[in-house]
Amino acid sequence: MEDWLFYTLTTLLCFLCSLLLRARAGSPGLKPHAAAAASSPPPPLPPGPTPLPVLGPLLFLARRDFDLAPLLRRLARRHGPVFTFAPLGPSRPTIFVAARGAAHRALVQRGAAFASRPPATASGALLTSGGRNVSSSPYGPTWRALRRNLAAGVLNPARLRSFSPARRWVLDGLVARVRAAATSGREGTGTSSSPVAVMEPFQYAMFSLLVYMCFGGDRLGGGDKRVVRDIEATQRELLTSFLSFQVFAFAPALTKIVFRRRWEKLVSLRRRQEELFAPLIQARRDAGAGGDCYVDSMLRLTVPEDGGRALTDGEIVSLCSEFLSAGTDTTATALQWVLANLVKNPAMQDRLRAEVAGVVGAGADGEVREDDLQAMPYLKAVVLEALRRHPPGHYVLPHAATEDTTLDGYRVPAGTPVNFAVRDIGMDAEVWDAPSEFRPERFLPGGEGEDVDLTGNKEIKMMPFGAGRRVCPGMALALLHLEYFVANLVREFEWREPDGEEVDLTEKLEFTVVMKRPLRALAVPLSVEKDGEAGHRRRRHLATTTCSSRRRRQRHGHSTALLGSSCLQHGTACVRATVPCLGAAGGPRVGAARVSARHDDLTMPYLGRTWARLHRARAVLARHAQLDMYSCR
Ligand code: HEM
Repeated sequence: MEDWLFYTLTTLLCFLCSLLLRARAGSPGLKPHAAAAASSPPPPLPPGPTPLPVLGPLLFLARRDFDLAPLLRRLARRHGPVFTFAPLGPSRPTIFVAARGAAHRALVQRGAAFASRPPATASGALLTSGGRNVSSSPYGPTWRALRRNLAAGVLNPARLRSFSPARRWVLDGLVARVRAAATSGREGTGTSSSPVAVMEPFQYAMFSLLVYMCFGGDRLGGGDKRVVRDIEATQRELLTSFLSFQVFAFAPALTKIVFRRRWEKLVSLRRRQEELFAPLIQARRDAGAGGDCYVDSMLRLTVPEDGGRALTDGEIVSLCSEFLSAGTDTTATALQWVLANLVKNPAMQDRLRAEVAGVVGAGADGEVREDDLQAMPYLKAVVLEALRRHPPGHYVLPHAATEDTTLDGYRVPAGTPVNFAVRDIGMDAEVWDAPSEFRPERFLPGGEGEDVDLTGNKEIKMMPFGAGRRVCPGMALALLHLEYFVANLVREFEWREPDGEEVDLTEKLEFTVVMKRPLRALAVPLSVEKDGEAGHRRRRHLATTTCSSRRRRQRHGHSTALLGSSCLQHGTACVRATVPCLGAAGGPRVGAARVSARHDDLTMPYLGRTWARLHRARAVLARHAQLDMYSCR
């Protein structure tokens, strides 16, 4: 009913508008301007199909999940790599750039000219506090202040290192979830049988890490877990409804009325965000905002507007929401694409596993640590190839010129959206041999992608993170997360195609470009040994964390030893010990256990005192055949 009313009203409106335009075109008032233009005609807009004033917007808005990519590719073939497309009518042209040379000229060589964003749509304005987050701010002093605060603050390389205990904690949780899902229904046999749907665990893992970085380390345990789940649900609903809110880009005064329920849903989601984030922001404020997390940095920040003012709570909510959304689905989607390709190509998976084992040893203990990643060129090649072949966004966020300008001889009016075709640029056959094939080797020495510059500063060969002044500030974090999780997941499990369920690499546009049929794969645990008699794989890992500081232990009220895969409240002051137990009946037999301690630099001084606690922990292990990996007592 809603849709029907909308189409009727829009048709009428467009018809009236076109009558009005025709009448004005014939009016004497326009003639002097036309004469002046005739004497020095401005360059034309890039070529493109003739826009349809009435049907265009209707067709465009009719399908919420309309994937424009194939159509845009046809238009680039017909009109050239810089072309205009106006799905919302002739008054709303959008320019597309589908060639790497033109992208380099615009984004890098004339970076400042193309560094702005088009004005926010009605839905965008609501969710970004009127275009005041990093990604939607127009190029200018406020954007600069917000971006510097993010890039030089929570995302700077030294700060990223300080979050490594959280990454380890999240990895443990992810591995445990995959293991549980893989062995579900086959408890006790230790064999994996059920295919694991990986996307949701990946999303939750990435989301947890970003919540930690955004609100601080004490936000992931205890009663706050519920809040984190609620925030995740709200953010997810916003992302899944994202395409349907696009309708408010067109005649918002009208669409807000006609699609009233949709608008109300958007408003209520925003309200829910504010309710959920406000107490977390207030808690940081009450604690003095002196920490490392993103919210603390925003509470200390002043923006140059109105002579220098603090951010409002609404603006902080928008920036938190952007941080959580920008880093969750993009990275989880890329992780899924990497794994899907490794499942499809077992030889590549074996080669990667061999590289990982060559660096960290073939033993089953511990993790692939972040420092180890630097010695893994093939791992990096696999990640890069996935980002080239399946970039999570097929277009960067729309750019806009700060003032009227030209690109390759065509006019680019100020404020007009300019889109850059990430996926097509990464598939350029002039640069990449057999571009549609998944070949990580191209990024190894001698390959066409060796030393590729992901920022595109020298030359653009691929641009999954954009290029130029608006290049993704989360690039280093995203690459770290991808390499760390891929290396560890390949070390922990052998990933296989389930019988009769071929992995399908067809793409589908959602908030990011995801797998049309989400990946389900068999995850065979590799941290196992054969039990001689039964032939079953039975080795179990129980991770034990002992608190290394009595003062902290007392503060958090823990007893002598903490059992669990890690203890986030204690962060780097904890020492991790992995206790592989070889119990023939499936339970741990501590007599056979080998205990080793892993620690990072910060915990080193506590190591001596920790051994005593480790021994106590072993005694507890002996009494409890089944331990909940996440209980902290
Ligand atoms: C695989 C993961 C990721 C991919 C593929 C990706 C890709 C992109 C792309 C294509 C852009 C637009 C660039 C442009 O407009 O020219 C962008 C912008 C942005 N990304 Fe990412 N991103 C990823 C992860 C992250 C992470 C982890 C964060 C932060 C936690 C983040 C934060 C941002 C922000 C704030 C912007 C806006 C920058 C600006 O307008 O100045 N991204 N990203």
